[in-house]
Amino acid sequence: MNSAGAIAFDLFGTLVDFTSLHERFAGHTETPQVFVESWRAKQLQYAFLSTMMVRYQNFDVVTERSFDYTCALYGLSLDRQTRAAAIEAWHYLPAYPDAAETLAALRERGWKLAVLSNGTPEAIRRTLEACGLAPLLDGMLSVDAVRAYKPRPEVYELAVAFFGRPASEISFVSSNAWDALGAGEFGFTVHWCNRSNAPAETLGVKPSRVLRSLKELLAS
Ligand code: LAC
Repeated sequence: MNSAGAIAFDLFGTLVDFTSLHERFAGHTETPQVFVESWRAKQLQYAFLSTMMVRYQNFDVVTERSFDYTCALYGLSLDRQTRAAAIEAWHYLPAYPDAAETLAALRERGWKLAVLSNGTPEAIRRTLEACGLAPLLDGMLSVDAVRAYKPRPEVYELAVAFFGRPASEISFVSSNAWDALGAGEFGFTVHWCNRSNAPAETLGVKPSRVLRSLKELLAS
């Protein structure tokens, strides 16, 4: 990635690490990893549902409701404070170790960088400020502006409007295979950062490139 252009990054799972939530549930369940994975899956399902039903609920609400569902599923009954802290923790997730270095190097090469996330504008800002990535980004774009979630095309359109370039001239980076698929169908050049060694989606276009780490974006 040597000739400078524009890149939009997904946030949760791509720049910041929600698997860091596992340890928070270690004292509550024997399978904290399974609990967090189920929570994340339900969070995304609620985001998709709210879009399909045309009943937009912001990502903070979706995160909270999916948490309550997951607790009910696993029979976890947490006190009010533990529940609030677990939900709030989404705003204080640590950056992946490869994120700051990669963003800083890309900026130095002249790339314009933005985050395009399902999070609310406030949650995106808080998360990026808390983990130290905020100064490395030119824009923070939230689905809130169009009251629908990825992979709706109007969400990806936010990056087209922000960068003032056609989709074909924008790169999109996500660790979420379904997001990589949606962004590819929209017309971005997609770099799927397959951190979890997941199988590729079998529906629609393939990502232009599969990465193991964000640092691979720095290789031409
Ligand atoms: C986001 C979710 C999809 O940040 O991870 O948009």
